Amino acid sequence: SRSFRIAPSILSANFAKLGEEVSNVIASGADWIHFDVMDNHYVPNLTIGPLVCAAIRPITDAVIDVHLMVKPVDRLIPDFAKAGANVITFHPEASEHIDRTLSLIHECGCQAGLVFNPATPLNYMDYVMDKLDIVLLMSVNPGFGGQAFIPVTLDKLRGARCRLDMHKKKTGHDILLEVDGGVKVDNIADIARAGADTFVAGSAVFGAGKDADPHRYDSVLAAL
Ligand code: DX5
Ligand code: ZN
Repeated sequence: SRSFRIAPSILSANFAKLGEEVSNVIASGADWIHFDVMDNHYVPNLTIGPLVCAAIRPITDAVIDVHLMVKPVDRLIPDFAKAGANVITFHPEASEHIDRTLSLIHECGCQAGLVFNPATPLNYMDYVMDKLDIVLLMSVNPGFGGQAFIPVTLDKLRGARCRLDMHKKKTGHDILLEVDGGVKVDNIADIARAGADTFVAGSAVFGAGKDADPHRYDSVLAAL
């Protein structure tokens, strides 16, 4: 059986008390902190950078999972590594040289992954499987929290799961399968059954009291 992890996205947290939000959500049972970086160029929104990552690093030992929605990608990678990121993922369309960017992330001492937008084909992973620690499927178009889960993502997850399982069989190499966007208590079981093992949840965890306890996700997962 797979092990699951919940990665609350601080995009929906209260930024005026971010440190408190991070320690509370980890104390409530969340596993990772998902850190959404947007540049108002690759996506039409502007969020947080390495300074904020460095500020939350001393708050928790939890994995900081940096999701780069920026173009170009490479220049920011050493900065995020120095700021304490553990996992760095990026969108293949935003990198001129995908293989090189994956190597750069590893050279900086972080785990590396590719992020697939809803309409981005999975083929981008084909020749870099050995360099992937994680694959992230977007179940919304990137740029904003609080959007609805795109249902065809379940088919795409099954396709990705199949590729990762085949790779594991051939090489013994494990790659995590993460999903990001519109994950809620009432759809997480279906998403897990389709093959995901790592769940980003922003508005469901931090939004206005609704689903506000990450333990609720744990009980759904435990029931699978
Ligand atoms: C969207 C971000 C997501 C977002 C998820 O571009 O990558 O991480 O915060 O938020 P919810 O869970 O509200 O869809
Ligand atoms: Zn994200």
